[in-house]
This record gives sequence, C-alpha cells and structure tokens, in this order.
Amino acid sequence: MTQPTSPSDEPGAPGAPGAPDEPGPRGEPAPPEPVPPQSVPTEPGPPPIERPASHEDAALLFGPRFQDTPAEVYRELRNTYGPVAPVLLPGGVPAWLVLGYRELLRVTEDTKVFGRGSARWRLWPQIPPDWPLRPMVEDNGSLLYREGDDHRRRAGAVGSALEAVDLNQMQDATQSFAQGLIEKLSEGSRADLIADYAHPLPVLALSRVLGLSDSEGVTLVKAINDMVDGGPDALRGQIEVRDTMERLVARKRRDPGPDTTSRMLADHAGLTDQEVIEDLMVLTLAGHQPCTDWIGMTLWLLLTDHEYAAGMGGGRRSVRQAMHQVLRDHTPVQIFAGRFTTQDTVLGATRVPAGDLVLLGLAGANTDPYIRPHAAGVMAGPEGHNAYMSYSHGEHRCPYAGQWIAEVVAHTAVETLLEHLPDVELAVPADELRWRPSPWLRGLTSLPVTYTPAHSYTGGFGWD
Ligand code: HEM
Repeated sequence: MTQPTSPSDEPGAPGAPGAPDEPGPRGEPAPPEPVPPQSVPTEPGPPPIERPASHEDAALLFGPRFQDTPAEVYRELRNTYGPVAPVLLPGGVPAWLVLGYRELLRVTEDTKVFGRGSARWRLWPQIPPDWPLRPMVEDNGSLLYREGDDHRRRAGAVGSALEAVDLNQMQDATQSFAQGLIEKLSEGSRADLIADYAHPLPVLALSRVLGLSDSEGVTLVKAINDMVDGGPDALRGQIEVRDTMERLVARKRRDPGPDTTSRMLADHAGLTDQEVIEDLMVLTLAGHQPCTDWIGMTLWLLLTDHEYAAGMGGGRRSVRQAMHQVLRDHTPVQIFAGRFTTQDTVLGATRVPAGDLVLLGLAGANTDPYIRPHAAGVMAGPEGHNAYMSYSHGEHRCPYAGQWIAEVVAHTAVETLLEHLPDVELAVPADELRWRPSPWLRGLTSLPVTYTPAHSYTGGFGWD
C-alpha cells in the first residue's frame, strides 16, 4: 500500500488536507476559496512523493528534536526497528537509515547490491526540482557517484595526488594560517570561534594543497561558507567555487607545480579538465566542512564538558587521542547519502526494495552496542573497542590521504588555539548554543567566547 505525501502534508502546513474547512479564529466558517475566473493551464509538477507502507510511522530526520539530540533519535530508532530504520527526509522523502555497524560494513562493501550511482533512485520522477537536499544526492559527474572501473580510475588519481602532499609542510602552513586568524582575534577579547576560526582555517589550508594562492584561498572562504550555509548567497557561492576551480585547472594545465591539481592533471588515468574540476569541488567541499565541524565540536566539548577538558588539560590524553574520541562519539558526518539498492534485498532483518535510497548512519553505527556495549550501558566496565565508521568504509570511503590531511588540519587548529588563547571561555550559557539544521553534518552555528587577547605574533601570512 502506498500513501502520497508532500511537505504540505505536515499538520498545520498551508494547503494541508482539510484546511479550507477549518473554522476561522472566532469559530465562524472560513470564507470560501475564491474561484479563478477561468482555468489557466499550469506546468504539471512532479507527482506527490510515494510513501510506502514500511514508512507509515517513519521518524523524521529533520526538525528541532533531531537537530538538538540526534543520538537520542538514533537510540530510539534502534530500539524500535533494529539496525535498519525507515526514515523521512525533509519533504517527506522516504529512505532507509543504517544504524548497525555490521550492516553498514555490508552496505559499504557489497557494491553489487548497494550501488553508488544515484540515477538508480526510483523516486527521482517524484522529487521536486527545488528539493533542498538535491545537491547532496544528485549525480554531479564527480567521483562520488561513479561505480566500478570508472570510480577506481577517478579515485586512484585523487588518492595518489593527495598521498604526495607533504604533511610537515601542511602542518606548518596550517599553523601559520591559524596564527594569522588568532592575531586577528587578538584585536578584541570576544569572538565567535566558528565564524572567526573553525570555518576559515580548513579552506585556507586546503587551498594551499590544491595550488591556489593565499588570496584566492581567502576569497574561497566566503564562497564556500555561503554555499554551506544554504542561505540566499548559496548559489552565488557555488558558482564562485566552480569558477575558482576552472581558473585553477586552466592555470595548472599551462604551468604545473608541486600541488594536488597538477598531479591530478598529470595522472596516467588521463582525467579530462571537466573531471578534474568536479573532483576538485569534491575535495574542497568534502574536505572543508567535516574539518570545520570536527574543530568546532572539539572546542565545544573543551568549553562545556569538564571531564573532557580535564582529560586533555591534565595531560592524561594527547590532543590527538582526545580528538579521536570526538570523531568517534560526535562524528561530523553523521549521515551520508548514500547508496541505492540495485535489487530487492534483505538488510539486517529488513526487506529493502530495489531502487531505494540507503543512508549511511555513521554516527549511529559508531554507537552500536555490538561494538560499544559499555557506552550503550549494555555491559559495565571500562570501554575497549575503538572501531568507528566516521570516514566510512569500502571503495568509496574517505581516501586515507584525505584522513591524514584532515587530522593535520584539525589537530593543528586545536593545539594552536589552546597554546595562544589558553584562558578561552564560553561567552553564553551552553544551552543557548545552536546546531545547524542539517541531517548530514552536525556542527554548531556559532561558538561565542571571551579570552585575554594574545599579542606578539610575527611573520603572519598577511591576512587582511
Ligand atoms: C574529519 C574530516 C573528514 C571526514 C569525517 C570525512 C568523511 C568522509 C565520508 C563519510 C565520506 C563518504 C564515504 C562514502 O561514500 O562511503 C568521504 C568521502 C570523501 N572524502 Fe572525506 N572526510 C573528511 C575529510 C576529508 C579531506 C580533508 C579530504 C581531502 C582533502 C577528503 C576527501 C574525500 C573524498 C575525495 C571523498 C570521496 C571518496 C569517493 O567517493 O571515492 N575528506 N569523506
């Protein structure tokens, strides 16, 4: 049995079923809808989104509750449905969320049944053109959506180009950018550590890796942030990022250098300019926001969780160990979209039809009682298992060299900040902090702090 649904099916939404018969504010009947003088032919929109019987009581992966306490939602879903839960994305779009560690291993390994090509999704004819999650699901020609040999060719070129990055140089560059930002913070005693520090830093560091100039990196910070914020400047931001990559590729074709872009262009895979541009967009976007959120999440814990801060400050754990805990327990990429079933299959004990969207529940899998019985309260005693899925798994997992770069950027960001602003404190009550309304990446919208300004930096990079 199927049940149509659309955003306007939300209770109380304008146009919800039955709305014209609702009484007015004082109990009088609502005025009749005006009748149009003549019927005007309109563009046929997509048919209403089909909601299968399996998804009749499915949980919403959006809204204030999911935004503020996703871990609670994952726990409830696991208790109700087991390792594979029916869920609804914004717009009432049905999908399957994989919360089980073993089930996620299977989904990411079994590429014959769980394909990456999003053209396989049978709901596309019903998805409105302005569906807000379209950019995260629709095939844009990048390596993300390729399969088989085509994917191996693209991912091989990207992986080799990233593996050649000198991580010591990368660390020095990140530190210098971090000091430049802190120098700017030192003009006052109050800042937003997301907007003023965690947001710009990864883009600046990644720009160096790609072969952009520092001034192009500074311009890219705004464009990427506009794009990620999804506000009125999002499209302009996306165009700006693409223009930057097109100019970069043209320049590196003419004048190659010791950078990731030149190495991708020279790779024996023979990537076209268009392919390199698409994959540079992925590198920049896939690299930037998770690093920003990882840095932001670590600083949030340091400022709000005394036990976490005491462990790091008291030297019981290195910054590296403490940040790995954040990656496991508060992974920035909570959910990744995804995989598309190539045939009817059974996952866990759930029947998933062909052509469905399967979401990788990375955060849910990290807290699966199967791998973390202590954290889940199933067993008492010290915690042992350190496995996590934050970088995913299988052929499409985050490239190892991308992971090394992420770690250099994030660790250097946190260490440099703590070194230069050791007395940083939260400037608002912790419960006033807000999370971005994204089902995919979890991060704070802002992190206002106060501190004693640090001075005495020399040799910055000319941030203006
Ligand atoms: C904390 C930081 C990061 C996290 C948590 C993260 C996580 C992920 C995840 C979950 C995926 C999706 C894998 C899948 O489809 O199964 C991914 C893909 C990818 N990431 Fe990362 N990532 C991070 C940083 C980076 C950085 C710094 C780079 C590059 C400089 C990078 C490059 C990529 C690329 C190229 C892919 C696409 C792989 C493919 O489809 O073959 N990531 N990442």
